[in-house]
Amino acid sequence: MEPDRGRPSGIDDLAAQLAKAEESLAHLVRLQESILECAGEGIYGTDSDGRITFVNPAAAALLGWQPEELVGRPAHETVHHSRSDGTPYPPAECAIHRSLALNRVYHSEDDSFWRKDGTRFPISFTCTPIVDEGEVVGGVLVFRDITERKEAQRAQKLKEQLELQVAHMQKMETLGQLVGEITHDLNNLLAVIQNYAAFVRADLPEGPISNDIDQVLRATRRAAALTRQLVMFSRREAVAPRVVDLNEVVLDMEKLLRRTIPAAVRVSTQVSASLWPIKVDIGQLEQVIMNLVLNAKDAMPEGGHLTLSTENVVVDPLRGRNEPPVPGRFVRLRVSDTGSGIPPELQRRVFEPFFTSKARGNGTGLGLATVRAHVERAGGYIAFDSVPGRGTTFDVYLPAVHAEVDLTDVEVIVPGRGGSRRAPAPDEGAS
Ligand SMILES: Nc1ncnc2c1ncn2[C@@H]1O[C@H](COP(=O)(O)OP(=O)(O)OP(=O)(O)O)[C@@H](O)[C@H]1O
Ligand SMILES: [Mg+2]
Repeated sequence: MEPDRGRPSGIDDLAAQLAKAEESLAHLVRLQESILECAGEGIYGTDSDGRITFVNPAAAALLGWQPEELVGRPAHETVHHSRSDGTPYPPAECAIHRSLALNRVYHSEDDSFWRKDGTRFPISFTCTPIVDEGEVVGGVLVFRDITERKEAQRAQKLKEQLELQVAHMQKMETLGQLVGEITHDLNNLLAVIQNYAAFVRADLPEGPISNDIDQVLRATRRAAALTRQLVMFSRREAVAPRVVDLNEVVLDMEKLLRRTIPAAVRVSTQVSASLWPIKVDIGQLEQVIMNLVLNAKDAMPEGGHLTLSTENVVVDPLRGRNEPPVPGRFVRLRVSDTGSGIPPELQRRVFEPFFTSKARGNGTGLGLATVRAHVERAGGYIAFDSVPGRGTTFDVYLPAVHAEVDLTDVEVIVPGRGGSRRAPAPDEGAS
């Protein structure tokens, strides 16, 4: 075809320019699209009402929607409807809305978006208002899934907490050792003071000076008792449980107990025959008995009646009040007094370490805490019943064990060898 002769050449130029401009515009749009498409971050735009106008594939994938499903939806209600803790997030309080309303870029490192399926994921985001002729006409939101970072942070925090806990435990352990060592030395010194004071006292006639020495003796006895309690409480050394007969331990201690208790307190011991064996650390069992007896004595300053008794008990599953939490066979040690009793409001506190109702200097409040720790370490249980003005009964339940035979030094016949040999100790292995 012939060129249109009637058309001025300027129009052709214009048309060519237009085509070029169109081409570069299309190029620009394609470029923008590919930027949006390739971006690893989720990106979406909203209009001034907060409706989604465009969304890149990463955003749609992260949010669990198809891109075309999201366009036109209100952004806040669709992906930001609840806070990280799951409580509703009113749009009026939403930081993104505020950022657009105030025409300010807003960045957050700690927020959450909600997927189509109702699950949540943590995000960091930047929200930038789109401004046209001085007015906010929408916004662009660029966000990133920070699940991995959050998890790493959580793991780090947990690690730090554990480290702190270990450090605390180590500190307590060291403190316990230190207290143990100091009190041990202190005890030895007190024993020296007590002995020499007793020698002096023995040489003195009754009078004001002997009274003073008596005061010294009394104070050293209290101090010795106190350090003993601390030693017991801080002691972390391995216990050495052995199979024993509770009666033997109680009868062994009887003489010592009678010496500790003032004459105004009548002591009776009622042991029942053929107790089941129990497995305990004897030193700890003695501490248990001693602490309960001392408490009973303290509750009867005017005198009274202290009874120690032992008995086999079977706790059936339909257990009553004051009975162990697990059914089974137990050997029960009962320490009963006719003393002051424990006021109901104090009853739940008596096992607390350092709880004492006694005057300053008369009690550390570690007695029953130590008793309970020892009893529980032996697999037992402690209970009490107390009537103010009438007295208190403490029951210690220790699990009965089947009589165990200590094989260490027992001659056994090894079949097939025709000879006898010492049975191997458990840690000697089979070789
Ligand atoms: N048999 C009892 N009768 C009355 N109250 C008791 C009896 N046993 C314990 N209590 C009460 O429980 C509290 C705690 O007893 P616990 O043995 O732990 O400490 P403490 O006797 O005060 O001091 P510590 O034994 O360390 O010298 C006592 O102060 C007392 O109030
Ligand atoms: Mg006590």
